Amino acid sequence: MRDRVVTGSSLNSDEESTQLSLRPQTLREYIGQKELREKLEVTLNAAKARREAVEHILFYGPPGLGKTTLAHIIANEMDAKVYATAGPALKRSGDLMGILTNLKEGDILFIDEIHRLSPVIEEFLYPAMEDFKVDFVVDKGAFAKVINVPLKRFTMVGATTRAGMLSAPLRDRFGIYYHIDFYPPEDLQEIILRSAGLLESRIDTEAARTIASRARGTPRIANRLLRRVRDYADVKGDGTITAEISARALDAEGVDERGLDDLDRKLLKIVIEYYKGGPVGIEALGATLNEEIDTLVDMVEPYLLKIGFIKRTRQGRMASAEAAAHLGLKPAGGEQEKLF
Ligand code: ADE
Repeated sequence: MRDRVVTGSSLNSDEESTQLSLRPQTLREYIGQKELREKLEVTLNAAKARREAVEHILFYGPPGLGKTTLAHIIANEMDAKVYATAGPALKRSGDLMGILTNLKEGDILFIDEIHRLSPVIEEFLYPAMEDFKVDFVVDKGAFAKVINVPLKRFTMVGATTRAGMLSAPLRDRFGIYYHIDFYPPEDLQEIILRSAGLLESRIDTEAARTIASRARGTPRIANRLLRRVRDYADVKGDGTITAEISARALDAEGVDERGLDDLDRKLLKIVIEYYKGGPVGIEALGATLNEEIDTLVDMVEPYLLKIGFIKRTRQGRMASAEAAAHLGLKPAGGEQEKLF
């Protein structure tokens, strides 16, 4: 996949380290997701009062909304350590054995992209999550032995962009589920002002609002856009981030007023013009755009659905009249009525 400035996933290790430095460390510092924060606070306080590990927690929602950040906050609030890994990185049960046996009471095992665990690893995790033990097979054939290894009471925090892709037995082993939704622009504006403060950039609220309105409801994108705008302000101005500089910088990046980039616009244009507003299957869209279906489903579509530019029907994706108006397009063949 090409690098998109508006993708919810992180781009490289340099960006990763800046995002890390901007990450809130405590629930108090965390902006937005008020309901989730309040529920989490109750859960953590109850576990603290009982001196118990927190129940296993599953976070689900689009990339870049703070699932990893929340795992670190939970560990921090509970005075515990966090061990982070990801579904695709775990190939053999041996990969997990070392981590699991090193976990202390209350430590956090964070597994990102948990819907991508292999079935073998999933099976291996069931007794670990449920009974805090693992069955480890040593030797092969006639000499094979199952060793039962007890574990400390740890907390598994799973993150997924697609709750529907988790197997029912795995989903059922989480005691708590939290859906993380896109952030409203007011929250993103506040996050941008906080980040600018940490980066020691001069910014006004109008500029923060301009950046927030183009950040597709996603803090990671908001912080990335802020850095691009900051560079632009340093080079083209005196470093002060104004609304005008922000708009110019983001226009130059190809990020429009609704936060759409080339790929979004191309997708919408294809649905509207080529498929006359739809419905069109995701496979056909992937082939026409030469993009992976997972990329479209995880990174592109969620925000377009959120703002009502597309809708998913059983027959496929359809584009809205609002999307067509935003791009100044009309469906081919005058099939305007096909837009919803
Ligand atoms: N940086 C990224 N996400 C944030 C959030 N939710 N609150 C504060 N700072 C953030």
